[in-house]
Amino acid sequence: MDAVARVIKVQLPNYLRSLPIPSTFGGFLKLSGNEWVRLVPLVVTTSVVVYLVVSALVPSKPKKEHEWVNKTVEKEKEKVADTFQIEDLGDKMVCCRCWKSKKFPLCDGSHNEHNKATGDNVGPIIVKRANPSS
Ligand code: FES
Repeated sequence: MDAVARVIKVQLPNYLRSLPIPSTFGGFLKLSGNEWVRLVPLVVTTSVVVYLVVSALVPSKPKKEHEWVNKTVEKEKEKVADTFQIEDLGDKMVCCRCWKSKKFPLCDGSHNEHNKATGDNVGPIIVKRANPSS
């Protein structure tokens, strides 16, 4: 503990006193290369501390769960996206657009319950083959 106390009470103040900090902003332009090098540890340390404080205070991704369209589907993913091969679709595919389906991305009719409860008017997107069985 004595070593830490010595660093804080003696070495750090001595280091700070020895820094070539000019009394005006224009003075920075007159610093030599060696004087700039002596300022590097202070600048780096100050930058890291400011970054850590700002990072702790500002959330990186604000969560507004009440505004989410998708409340339940694959929430562990950054983005929900599905791919189907056209050859595998058959003659018709009904895709959910309300995010309520238990079979997402396919519609299971859950939009009807949602519309009834909320007065909304969402429904699926239906993809049909122009010439079935071709
Ligand atoms: S269940 Fe979502 S659109 Fe039908």
